[in-house]
Amino acid sequence: MSIKTIRVPAGGGFEHVVLETSAPVEPKAGEIVVRLRASSLNYHDYLVVSGAWGPSEPRIPLSDGAGEVLAVGPGVGKFKPGDRVVSTFFPTWLDGEPEVEGFATVPGDGVDGFAREQVTLPATAFTHAPKGWSHAEAATLTTAGLTAWRALMVDGNLKPGETVLVQGSGGVSVFALQFAKLAGATVIATSSSDDKLARLEALGADHLINYRQDPQWGDTVRRLTGGRGVDHVIEVGGPATLEQSMTAARIGGHIALIGILSGLSAHLPLALALTRQLRLQGLIVGSRRQQQDMVRAIEATGMRPVVDRHFPLEAMVDAFRYEESGRHFGKICLDI
Ligand SMILES: NC(=O)c1ccc[n+]([C@@H]2O[C@H](COP(=O)([O-])OP(=O)(O)OC[C@H]3O[C@@H](n4cnc5c(N)ncnc54)[C@H](OP(=O)(O)O)[C@@H]3O)[C@@H](O)[C@H]2O)c1
Repeated sequence: MSIKTIRVPAGGGFEHVVLETSAPVEPKAGEIVVRLRASSLNYHDYLVVSGAWGPSEPRIPLSDGAGEVLAVGPGVGKFKPGDRVVSTFFPTWLDGEPEVEGFATVPGDGVDGFAREQVTLPATAFTHAPKGWSHAEAATLTTAGLTAWRALMVDGNLKPGETVLVQGSGGVSVFALQFAKLAGATVIATSSSDDKLARLEALGADHLINYRQDPQWGDTVRRLTGGRGVDHVIEVGGPATLEQSMTAARIGGHIALIGILSGLSAHLPLALALTRQLRLQGLIVGSRRQQQDMVRAIEATGMRPVVDRHFPLEAMVDAFRYEESGRHFGKICLDI
């Protein structure tokens, strides 16, 4: 049996992506074999595969993977064949304080990822998927879902009645909107598109701002909150948005520094950060324990992710081109 596998060469580049086959690997003690059924795209995967942040050696891309367990190695007690599972972003960060810097251990970047039909990995590189979810839905949790969850529920300690600002309508921001509404928060959503704003409103956003038409949207957010500012900002824009986010935040407010959509360095009004006593918290996704907590919350609430479109694995580059176009709303998934 051979396993359909996508690989990008060192340095990446859409034009260099190849479809190959690889051999199955028997599970050793503590390992499971997973028949992968879906993945989902993240901006980070786009950077790796496009070559903007290409790998240093040939790599199987994609950080998100979901499927069903085919076989378990000796000593695996928590999974059995047939279980539906979803991968973790940091296979070695199981619990507790962050203990990994950068992407050296991340599937699809520092190690091989999930653009393939089958994988053999330590059981701890997966959690159970939410009951009743499709594989594509489950795949959205590894990166986008857990980042939004950690930003609000772990780092942000979000409480009912607080106000959350989410930027744009990509994977992380739509999850953040959904988790914030589940937790009883008020949500202010921004987008470049009035059509997308209408869809954000349908998901529960309480206030809407078109950031193209209102470049000083930080002041608008202050007005909408009666001058107080928001408790939490899901900051995905980077240099183009951080200053407005700092304007929008309340005294002592929490800005989750998540994204770099507009670049890697910014000019910052440090006096504002200081005088307003802002908490700027950088984060990369989260731990396996946090993923298990998120799955439990999802099962308890019946929440479903927003999947914009599906592509077959073989059309991965087309899917990335679609993400690049910015037309998507929520997540883009790959069926394997
Ligand atoms: N730190 C982490 O752990 C982590 C995890 C996941 C993602 N990220 C980062 O977070 C960012 C978003 O990732 P994603 O996967 O959600 O991306 P995505 O699905 O591709 O979403 C991109 C969306 O962001 C919005 N956007 C673009 N430029 C913007 C700007 N200047 N201001 C406000 N919104 C803007 C657009 O929404 P509209 O079309 O509605 O305007 C766009 O559709 C990326 O930089 C990614 O690398 C970080």
